[in-house]
Amino acid sequence: MANVIIVGTQWGDEGKGKVVDLLSEQADFIVRFQGGNNAGHTLVVNGKKHIFHLIPSGILHQDKKCMIGNGVVLDPGVLIEEMDRLGEVGLRVTPDNLLISLYTHVIMPYHRALDLARENRKGRTAIGTTGRGIGPCYEDKVGRGGIRVHDLLDSAAFSEKLARNIEEKNFILRNFFQHEALDPAEIMDEYLAYGERLRPFAGNVSLQLQEADAQGRNILFEGAQGTQLDIDHGTYPYVTSSNTVAGNACCGAGIGPTRIDSVLGVVKAYTTRVGGGPFPSELLGETGEHIRKVGGEFGATTGRPRRCGWLDMVVVNSAVRLNGLGGLVITKLDVLTGIPVLKIGVSYNCRGSRLDIVPAELDALEACEPVLEEFPGWDEDIEKVRTWVDLPKNAKKYLEAIEQISGVPIRIISIGPSRDATIILKDPFNDKAAQQLLSGNIYDG
Ligand code: GDP
Ligand code: IMO
Ligand code: MG
Repeated sequence: MANVIIVGTQWGDEGKGKVVDLLSEQADFIVRFQGGNNAGHTLVVNGKKHIFHLIPSGILHQDKKCMIGNGVVLDPGVLIEEMDRLGEVGLRVTPDNLLISLYTHVIMPYHRALDLARENRKGRTAIGTTGRGIGPCYEDKVGRGGIRVHDLLDSAAFSEKLARNIEEKNFILRNFFQHEALDPAEIMDEYLAYGERLRPFAGNVSLQLQEADAQGRNILFEGAQGTQLDIDHGTYPYVTSSNTVAGNACCGAGIGPTRIDSVLGVVKAYTTRVGGGPFPSELLGETGEHIRKVGGEFGATTGRPRRCGWLDMVVVNSAVRLNGLGGLVITKLDVLTGIPVLKIGVSYNCRGSRLDIVPAELDALEACEPVLEEFPGWDEDIEKVRTWVDLPKNAKKYLEAIEQISGVPIRIISIGPSRDATIILKDPFNDKAAQQLLSGNIYDG
């Protein structure tokens, strides 16, 4: 048995969805523990693309149980839409394969309105949020005024909490943002209907995980966003509103840290970021444009073009430290094919001094320039490669540099969006199974 946490090591969109789908094969339970529908996790299976914002990426394995933990902020309308969309393609989402924590906070229409109104007001200094109401919902959670899933199941409790909230939110919306007021009666009807639809799915995630763990079942924790978007450890204030690091898998699902066996960090072979904020290794010219095009770097949630840059090992090494990474999953290596000279940022030059960490102060980070090391590229098409030995020599050198600079072994290499475009060097759930499963895929590096 093994309980494994998957997290993003950069600014999100590392390919966590693909990795979680892949590893779900060996998991019994797949749990989202933070974030909300700001996430967009894309899976390509049998040539068909699925994008999940809230439902864990294990749902395509219909015999597994997916869970939405207490640390998530849940927009019930979006969840129901996602469930219905899956139904249309013949995939069932029932209380047998989806459990939602009663403790999960609910995103309300005023959260979305406040998120957008605030961003508009900020103008040039906007964070570039996804506009999904994530920040305002977490604010209410921490401010102890939030509405949780269990409230949607009790019309009296919901009515009282909604009344209290709407009075304050409408005051702010109207008087501070000159936004029209929201109608509480409409919200009441809409959200109580969501409650009825979701009632059979609501339960105690923590208790079920305890039971699963006691039975030696495998649990996979699916992180959203990335380490540099963490509310504490990321590039504040250009971050999301939750802790995205592995430690939060425990808080956000209701499981103790002693129950976790390993943490894997997903590293895109280059770097991307959506929205505002500093990005030292950003490529503003032709190469950045080339990576965006080849890598299809457009947001899965908002469709915005993602900013692209060289792989930044200062960022990855921060993720190693902050998540206690035991292994790396390198994704999108295929996107780098054909670039004659590849560069990896190994430290920063900050106003003439060398820095090996991401500084806390925004102005210092904005002044950081990456110190780049060059690596020769490769031209061979690698999407069909399935073993380490078959990778081009220069691709191996690039990967070995990542291992060497991070001090963390690479476990999986992804060389295409589909499930099978993967080289597994070591299976995080079961070493023995990995040997059988991947006969021939023996790491000679
Ligand atoms: P997530 O948010 O971390 O799950 O990542 P996204 O789904 O937002 O973005 C990753 C994108 O890259 C998706 O469109 C995936 O289908 C795609 N992808 C994942 N792994 C690979 C890979 O190894 N190669 C290529 N070319 N695309 C990949
Ligand atoms: P996945 O799980 C990339 C970014 C937004 C914005 C900042 C704050 O797909 O990797 P928010 O709406 O969370 O308040 O926005 O965080 N952001 C993401 N960027 N991938 C994500 O999720 C993201 N979720 C939020 O673009 O800069
Ligand atoms: Mg994404």
